[in-house]
Amino acid sequence: MNYEVKEQLYEGKAKQVFATNDPEIVMVHYKDDATAGDGEKKGTIRDKGIVNNKLSNALMQKLEKEGIPTHYVQEVNDRDTFVKKVEIVPLEVIIRNVAAGHFSLRMGVPEGKVFKTPILEYSYKNDDLHDPFINHYYALALELATQEELDTIAKYAFKVNEVLKKIMLDANIRLVDFKLEFGRLPDGTIILADEISPDTCRFWDATTGAHLDKDLFRRNMGGEADAYQEVMKRLLG
Ligand code: TMP
Ligand code: ASP
Repeated sequence: MNYEVKEQLYEGKAKQVFATNDPEIVMVHYKDDATAGDGEKKGTIRDKGIVNNKLSNALMQKLEKEGIPTHYVQEVNDRDTFVKKVEIVPLEVIIRNVAAGHFSLRMGVPEGKVFKTPILEYSYKNDDLHDPFINHYYALALELATQEELDTIAKYAFKVNEVLKKIMLDANIRLVDFKLEFGRLPDGTIILADEISPDTCRFWDATTGAHLDKDLFRRNMGGEADAYQEVMKRLLG
């Protein structure tokens, strides 16, 4: 598979998307740029683009094998990947296994409390509104997704959780929570899109509890570049 890369279609906070000669395929380019607080804090994390590209691709391939359709097509180089072009469903789909972050703030539950069952929650993907927390009924009423799509998304999200928890634990990492995005192919099929990386997951070392994710950057704790490398090393060798 060799696609010709054409014009840039979109630039987000962490990635750029380019058209190719195939209307069904785009190329994603992963940058080192990092933001927090809906773009309020800006910086870079050294070689983050490489880690996120390689890790996300490896994880998506494992998920495909477990029956979850993803946008992954082919890695081009350290920072670029061909993926299926989708229309993104404007939902941030979050799964939580352990209390942290906004859950802890909102609910007054200390970080680290293990939930009896995993939590699925939705945010409306809209930076100007700071990705507000919404429920299923908001999504239906505002036609962000259909009932059938939400059922598929929930089924895939819980399955991703089961597969990912095991992959991470094999690398002595606890999967605290994560955010997924889904997209629609032209025929309406829902597939997993965006990325799965230390930007979009909370990873805690299973022995020490050390943060191995973007919280190091969000919370100005330092050491984020090394933590991203550590995650890549543990998972990809
Ligand atoms: P939260 O506790 O801040 O809501 O984050 C839940 C998960 O979602 C966490 O793994 C980090 C991820 N996340 C993103 O991928 N993008 C975001 O903009 C935010 C706020 C969180
Ligand atoms: N989405 C947040 C931002 O745009 C980043 C994050 O907290 O992961 O700043």
